[in-house]
Amino acid sequence: MNLFRTKSIADMVKGTEQHALKKSLGSVDLVLLGIGCIIGTGIFVLTGVAAAKYAGPGIMLSFVLSGLACGFAALAYAELAAMIPVAGSAYTFAYASLGEIIAFIVGWALICEYTVGAAAVAAGWSGYTVGLLKTAGIILPKAWTAVPADGGILNVPAVLIVSFLTYLLVLGTKESAKLNRVLVFIKLGCVALFLLLATPHVNPSNWEPFLPFGLGGVASGAAIVFFAYIGFDAVSTAAEECKNPNRDIPIGIVGSLLVCTVLYIAVAAVLTGVVPYSSLNNSEPVAFALRAIGMNFGSAVVALGAICGITTVLLVMIFGQTRVFLAMSRDGMIPQSLVKIHPIHGTPHVITMITGAVVCILSGLLPINIIAELCNLGTLFAFCIVSAGVWVLRKTQPDALRPFRCPAVALTVPLAVLFCGYLISNLPSNTFIFFGIWYVIGMVVYFSYSRHHSTLAEQEQSVNLPLDK
Ligand code: ALA
Repeated sequence: MNLFRTKSIADMVKGTEQHALKKSLGSVDLVLLGIGCIIGTGIFVLTGVAAAKYAGPGIMLSFVLSGLACGFAALAYAELAAMIPVAGSAYTFAYASLGEIIAFIVGWALICEYTVGAAAVAAGWSGYTVGLLKTAGIILPKAWTAVPADGGILNVPAVLIVSFLTYLLVLGTKESAKLNRVLVFIKLGCVALFLLLATPHVNPSNWEPFLPFGLGGVASGAAIVFFAYIGFDAVSTAAEECKNPNRDIPIGIVGSLLVCTVLYIAVAAVLTGVVPYSSLNNSEPVAFALRAIGMNFGSAVVALGAICGITTVLLVMIFGQTRVFLAMSRDGMIPQSLVKIHPIHGTPHVITMITGAVVCILSGLLPINIIAELCNLGTLFAFCIVSAGVWVLRKTQPDALRPFRCPAVALTVPLAVLFCGYLISNLPSNTFIFFGIWYVIGMVVYFSYSRHHSTLAEQEQSVNLPLDK
C-alpha cells in the first residue's frame, strides 16, 4: 500500500459537491474571518509577558520576525488555497502535493493548532472575564475558575463560552459570520482606542535599553508571540463556503495578516513606550498600561474589547477545526459518518459538537501555557509542510491552474521553512515531548484505521488537472 499516494485536485473539488456547504462568504467576510481569528489572546495577553520575560522593547522586532515567518507561509497558503478551494487547509494541500501519510501528519498537527489552540484561547478568555468581574466586585470561586494544575477543579467560564460558540456554529456559518463581523469591529475599535489614548503618553526613555536580553531574547519572544498571528490560515478552511474562492481566499489571507502585523507592531511599540517593559508581566497588559497613565475608563473599555476579541478567535478556531475534520472524514481518515450535514442549517453539526466537547475538556482541565506552546509547535510544523507543498506541486504539476501564484517561489518557500523552523527551535523543550506523544497516538490511528479506510485505498487512479488557458 502506497503511503505517499496523492489525491488529485480535480477529485477533491468534485468530492465536495456530494456534501456541499452553503456558499455564503465574500472577500470582506474572509478578511474579517481572518482578523477574527488573529487578534486575540496573543496581542492582549502574551505581548506583555514576552516583553517582560524575553524581549523587552525589542518585542517590536519579535513581531517583525514572527510576521515575516507568517508572511512567507501566507503566500504559500494563498497559492494552495486558491488552487484547491476545498475545506481542510494544510491537510488538503498536503494530500494533493506530498501524499497521504504526510497529509495525515499535517491533519494531526492542525488538531494541535485549532483544537488545542482554541482551548488555550478559551482559557485566556476565562482569565480576562474573571478579572473584569473581579474589578466589578464579583468574585468567582477559584475551584471553578482554575484548572487542577493551578489549584482548581474545572475552568467553568472556559467550558461555558466554548459550549455557547459551538451552539452558534451548529446554527450556521452565515449567522456566525454576522456575529464575527460585529465582534471584529468592536475589537478593532478597542485596539484603535488603545493606540489613540496611549500614543501621546509614550516616553522614548522606556525604549532604553532596547534589547535588554539581546537578540536571543527577541527570538524567544518571537516564538511566543507567534501565537498572536495564528489564525490567518483559518481563512483557507472556509474555501468551500466562498462565493469566489480564487479571488477571495488570497485577499482574505494576505489582507488579514497585513492588517494585523501593522497593528501588532504599533501596539507593541506603544505598550513598551508607555510603561517600563518589566512591569508588563501580567494577565491584562494593555488595560494595565492604560490604568498606569490614569485612563481608568478607557482601560475598562479596552478590557471589554479584549474579551470580544478573544471570543471571535475562539469562534473561528472551532470553525476551522470542524472544516479540517470534514476534509479528513471525507477521505476516510476518520469515520465518514462524522461529515453528516444538518438538513436545515447546512452545517456539519456532528463534527462541530464533537470538536466543541474536546475543546471544553482541554480548556477546562489543562494549563494555558502548555496548550499554547503545543499549539505554536503544531502550527509552525504545518506551515513548513504547506510551504514545501507549494514547491513540490510546482515541480510535479507545473501546468495546473493557479489563480494566485506565490511570488518568487524559489525564495519565498525556503524562507518560510527557514523562518518557521527557526521559531520552532526557540520553543521550550518539553513542548517537543508532548508533540512526540501526540504523534505516537496519531501513527497508531493512521496505521490501525485511516490507512485501511482511506478512499484512495479503493480508487488509486488519478484525474488530471485543468490546464492553464
Ligand atoms: N492569534 C490568536 C490569538 O492571539 C490565536 O488569540
